[in-house]
This record gives sequence, structure tokens and C-alpha cells, in this order.
Amino acid sequence: MRKTIIAGNWKMNKTPSEAAALAAEIAQIKDAACEVVICPPFVDLFFAKKAIEGSNIKLGAQNCHWETSGAFTGEISADMLIEAGCEYVIIGHSERRQYFGETDETVNKRTVAALAKGLKVILCVGETRDERVDGITEEVIARQIKLDLKGISAEDMANVVIAYEPVWAIGTGLVATKEQAEEVCGFIRGLIKELYNAEVAEETTIQYGGSMKPDNCAELLAMPNIDGGLIGGAALKTADFAAIVAAGK
Ligand code: 13P
Repeated sequence: MRKTIIAGNWKMNKTPSEAAALAAEIAQIKDAACEVVICPPFVDLFFAKKAIEGSNIKLGAQNCHWETSGAFTGEISADMLIEAGCEYVIIGHSERRQYFGETDETVNKRTVAALAKGLKVILCVGETRDERVDGITEEVIARQIKLDLKGISAEDMANVVIAYEPVWAIGTGLVATKEQAEEVCGFIRGLIKELYNAEVAEETTIQYGGSMKPDNCAELLAMPNIDGGLIGGAALKTADFAAIVAAGK
């Protein structure tokens, strides 16, 4: 059975001391029936790791370069993340694609490298508002999934989580309806079946992300093809994040 995973993407929020405090609060969330991951900024990772020690909370990062080391100012390697205590890394978030020139090609290179080093990848895909209005959501998602997963084996897929994040729903308060989210998550599962096989499709965790909050998480998480959430704003408030974790069974 595939895992339900609730992951908090802290984006560019929290200094190291603030991160330690928030992670310590989140570490108090007990009896989670799902996997819980927090993804703080790079400089916070060591502090957050220390704060969640002894809990079931897992640590993730928000990006990772494909080279092991070298002249890549501002980037970070998988080895660095692993030594900082990361098990997961988010790759291809729409904010990276929109603001930092991330392309399907670089997303693919990052994903391949992270998996080769043993990190689990939360791969983000999603359409913009214009693309949805133009009726090309499925075309966009299919392109992203095919290019981003190029060269990734069925075996490697055991360490890939897909996060469906419609760009128009991120940080806007505009959540996709449960039907809209389910439709695309189901479409993604169908693509994975096509690219790999039925077993890989059944086993792959597919999250929804975009304005997921305590008051809308239960209906989204109850949908058959939605196996968790990638949470932005609500992951920065312990009570809200705990409520979403509680809905993640
Ligand atoms: P919000 O939950 O703030 O909309 O952000 C979603 C997101 O981008 C998570 O990666």
C-alpha cells in the first residue's frame, strides 16, 4: 500500500532559531498515521534536525544540484543534504520554475542525481492559471511528468513522490476543488502506469499542494488518488499543520 505523506514546504521562511522552535513544536505531534516531513531552508536544516531528534518527523530540503561539488555558486549537493540529516528533497517546485529558470531538463537532472545519492524526491508538477483556462492542463502535466522522470527506473520510482500543485492555487487561498485535484492526480497515476506499470502506479504517493488548510484538507485527502499534501503557509503554524497531519491517514 502506498504511503500517505504530509510534507511542509517552509519556503524562504524562518531563521535558524525560529526553525528550531517550530520544528520542536512539530516534533510534539504524536500518533501520526502518516509520514510527516518538514522542509526548511538550507541553513535551518541542522537546527531542525536536532529539534526533531527522537520523533518520527522526517527532514527534507527544497532543492538540490546534480553535481557532487564544484563551482556552482548558491547551489547545494545531495551529499550535503544527506549529511545535514535530509531524507527527502523537493525538486521542481513551481516557484523555482517561475523565478529561478528551472526547466524540465534541470528538474530531471536534479531528480536523477538526488535519487542516485539515496534521497527521496518530492517532484512538483502543475499548470498555471492560463494553461488551465486554455484547457491544456493534461498536456502540461504529461509533458512535465515525462521529461522530469526521463531515465528514472521503475525501481527508483519507489523513492519518488509526485506533488500536484496547480500554480494558481499556491499561496492564493484558491484551493482546487476536490474533484479538480482528484482528476489531475488520477491522470498522473495513469501516466505513471503508462510509463512504468500498474504496480508502480499503485505504489506511487501523489500529493496535492496549493492552499491546503485544516478546513479543506479532509475532503481532499479522502479522494482515492490523493495520498497526502505538500503544505506551504499552513506548515508554518503548528496547530494548522497538526490538523492536516491528523487528517492524513
Ligand atoms: P500554500 O499552501 O501556501 O498555497 O503553498 C503550497 C506550496 O507551494 C507547497 O509547496
